[in-house]
Amino acid sequence: MPDQLTVLVMAAGKGTRMRSALPKVLHPVCGRPMVEWVIGAARAAGASDVVCVTRPGDGVAEGLPDDVTVAEQTTGEGTGAAVLAARESIAPGATVAILSGDHPLVSAELIGELIATHERELATATILTTDSLDPTGYGRIVRAPDGSVERIVETKYTEGLSAEELALPEINLGSYAFNAGALFAALDEVGVEGGEVYLTGVFPLLRDAGKRVASHLTGDVSSAMGVNSRADLMAVERLAQQRILERHALAGVSFAAPDTVHIEADVEIGADTTIGPGVTLRGATAIGAGCEIGPQTTIADSSLADGASCVHSFLTEARVEAGASVGPFAYLRPGAHIGAGAKIGTFVEVKNSEIGAGAKVPHLSYLGDADVGEGANVAAGNITANYDGFAKHRTKIGSEVRTGVNASFVAPVTVGDGAYIGAGSVISEDVPPGALGISRPEQKNVAGYTERMKRERG
Ligand code: UD1
Ligand code: MG
Repeated sequence: MPDQLTVLVMAAGKGTRMRSALPKVLHPVCGRPMVEWVIGAARAAGASDVVCVTRPGDGVAEGLPDDVTVAEQTTGEGTGAAVLAARESIAPGATVAILSGDHPLVSAELIGELIATHERELATATILTTDSLDPTGYGRIVRAPDGSVERIVETKYTEGLSAEELALPEINLGSYAFNAGALFAALDEVGVEGGEVYLTGVFPLLRDAGKRVASHLTGDVSSAMGVNSRADLMAVERLAQQRILERHALAGVSFAAPDTVHIEADVEIGADTTIGPGVTLRGATAIGAGCEIGPQTTIADSSLADGASCVHSFLTEARVEAGASVGPFAYLRPGAHIGAGAKIGTFVEVKNSEIGAGAKVPHLSYLGDADVGEGANVAAGNITANYDGFAKHRTKIGSEVRTGVNASFVAPVTVGDGAYIGAGSVISEDVPPGALGISRPEQKNVAGYTERMKRERG
């Protein structure tokens, strides 16, 4: 490895074949934009500087890590124009690795191998190639009789190409190592072809100038795959998902039905956790050890501590503490914080609420903007009326409170520790600790009613 490795990521292409309003390199692969995968690999390969070429106003620069230098491509089209846009950000004496933002699964190891070949061969330019992919549409490596690289022929459009060229099996993967000074000098000489400056145009020029152009052949198919259409994106998504599942499996996670889950790239899962069928884990989700997730559960941007379980449920921006159980059929919304060992049961919705350790909300309730104390039991069908049509208010239910079924809490309202709430009550005034709060009409029994109805109507 050189002491200083600069990596240039080309990410300003039009990506027309994606048929999308979103720039190609922002399309997510397992939840992470393509370009971030490439930058992550560059960093893992030991890049000291990462320069990313973007278009002004395309939104790519905004999402990049702060330590990435952005170079804007304001003139010209094509990969050559992309590299020229970064000229000011790269020292002429540097070794620069160029990566394409549309090869999201390029691995750090492969970048390292490419650089090692470049140095070993004392080359001015080294091209990463493979003969293990369907070569359709890729640039093909044309070799001289002595086996050296002569040029690259593009095959995106096939008219005018010879049968021999179209039969070439070795493709250019759009990743290269270069001596920066020689690269820019050659790029100045590359003409415009079909409206584009092709980076690949530098190779015959370097060769003619007596410089060494080497190549590094890889069989790593997932690293090699480029994305030009959403069909390519699907293929890459499958490989990325497989890579993510294997990483978790090797770290001690069980997947009962691996082909049915969707686990995004940044999700963390502890050992001895079981992920059931139909589980989606998205965004910045962290699952502890020994948890049971699924079947049929979606969790986004949430954390679950060790030993929690979550079955047939939907969680977004929620926190679940150790040993708590959620579901089946629970909905935890932003700001739901479920204490250790607590239970959120069937058809229960919780939003922006603290549920104390060991508290139980087993059935058919809505708790919004509520604080439920430790060990409280919220019976079936309890509802917090948290919104008065203008503002949201909090409901405070103390520790060890026992509520009856179908109670409503008209916020703001407080129920003291250890209190009871009668079934069917509408609680709109505070209940002192240890008291019974009850608000419902007294029951009246009408004796002989059935007989009387039969007489009158029958
Ligand atoms: C390119 C190569 C081709 C190679 C293939 C590998 C050229 C001329 N061709 O073709 O030999 O087999 O990659 O996937 O280089 N980009 C810019 N600015 C631009 C145009 C492109 O930054 O003006 C970026 C794109 O965002 C993309 C990368 O460069 O990340 C490659 O561009 P793309 O248009 O996908 O080139 P390919 O046709 O795939
Ligand atoms: Mg491409």
